[in-house]
Amino acid sequence: MTPDSPERADLSPLAGARVVLGVSGGIAAYKAVEVLRRLVEAGAHVVPVLTEAATRFVGVATFSALASEPAETELFGAHDAIPHTRLGRLADLVVVAPATARVIGEYASGISADLLGATLLATRAPVLVCPAMHTEMWEHAAVRANVETLRARGVHVVAPESGRLAGGDVGEGRLADPETIVAAAARVLAAERARAKGRGRARAGLDGLTVVVSAGGTREPIDPVRYIANRSSGRQGHALAEVAAERGATVVLVTASGLEAPRGVTVVRVETAAELAEAVLSRSEGADVIVMAAAVADFRPVRAATSKLAKRDGIPEIELEPTVDVLAELGKRRRPGQVIVGFAAETDDALARAREKLVLKGADLLVVNDVSAPNVGFGHETNAVTVLYASGGEVEVPLAPKRTIAGAVLDAVSAVRRAETPAGLDAANSARSRPDGGERR
Ligand code: CTP
Repeated sequence: MTPDSPERADLSPLAGARVVLGVSGGIAAYKAVEVLRRLVEAGAHVVPVLTEAATRFVGVATFSALASEPAETELFGAHDAIPHTRLGRLADLVVVAPATARVIGEYASGISADLLGATLLATRAPVLVCPAMHTEMWEHAAVRANVETLRARGVHVVAPESGRLAGGDVGEGRLADPETIVAAAARVLAAERARAKGRGRARAGLDGLTVVVSAGGTREPIDPVRYIANRSSGRQGHALAEVAAERGATVVLVTASGLEAPRGVTVVRVETAAELAEAVLSRSEGADVIVMAAAVADFRPVRAATSKLAKRDGIPEIELEPTVDVLAELGKRRRPGQVIVGFAAETDDALARAREKLVLKGADLLVVNDVSAPNVGFGHETNAVTVLYASGGEVEVPLAPKRTIAGAVLDAVSAVRRAETPAGLDAANSARSRPDGGERR
């Protein structure tokens, strides 16, 4: 990557971007403080991740004081059991400055020896590596080969510069200037966004559309400590929201799940069926697409006890009442051009029951899964579904990660939208036969 003239660099892509700043143990670690300061100044939300060796050169407190979140150092975090997946997933960009020969070697070999290594392997965000080491190490064939391996995998590299190194030696290996690194970070983000936009358009783009997705299982209180719930994890709904946002939609995710917010999505957290109904129905008017992936309770206790029910009071009689069927209500309120998608998790006679629901509730598409099959649906990372079209067709999507399933469902949404005009029918049919392509970033 060619260094920018830092004064002319456009740093605007950094505004609002989530950046993980990996710092490994070299004398240049002190320069990472300046990189951090400049990233924050450009509006980025920066989380520093320091290797153990880095903490020998610069204090964790220095990074924490300047960063948007406290610096992370432990693979097994005190407040988070798996910080690497959280950090990796939420990042828009990972910058490693300085990157030592060890960190580069481990990353190239797929070794996750510490939090930084694990974050690098767990992320799908673009990665910018800024090596710094002694000239002999930088010129070593093994280091060269590792850097080339990373480049070949799409990792961006800001090559070290020539200059004074630790111990007074002079040569190639000095960490690039912080301005150069920050300018490169902005360029990588801009390029990534342009690519994501192109990718979204290339297949079933949802540019300019507003998509409301519901996710998770609602909880209906019985008393202050108990509730009626179901097995839905919310993963499929969250994956749908994430992929819809990547395809250019403005996404509102109404979720009863505790899962993290996907990137670029507005999240409304709800607990009960009534809260979910209110959140979805109040936004339905302005939505082009509504996907009801939530497992909404069909019944709720008429009254939730205000004090905990105790055994000594005998077996409680819990009177239940039906909740609003949000999907059916959406079907009734539908405005022209709106696409409404329902889900059904079934165990017996799945397709027939799902087709009944499709008609009864007035949806355009119904995504059905047989949750009695292995690795399908609730609590699994994978799913296998059949997408039923109100117009009569159906598409089977075999066992795949939930993001891939989300891609297939959104392809079907685009097909329905195109089919609104006669000319769109052919496009819809070809879209149905097209492989999903809901690949990971
Ligand atoms: N749904 C809804 N509101 C409810 C119940 C369900 O919007 N109160 C939606 C779900 O989000 C899903 C679809 O309806 O998109 C089908 O859910 P399901 O529970 O399978 O439907 P039910 O009508 O409750 O049928 P069943 O008797 O099989 O539970």
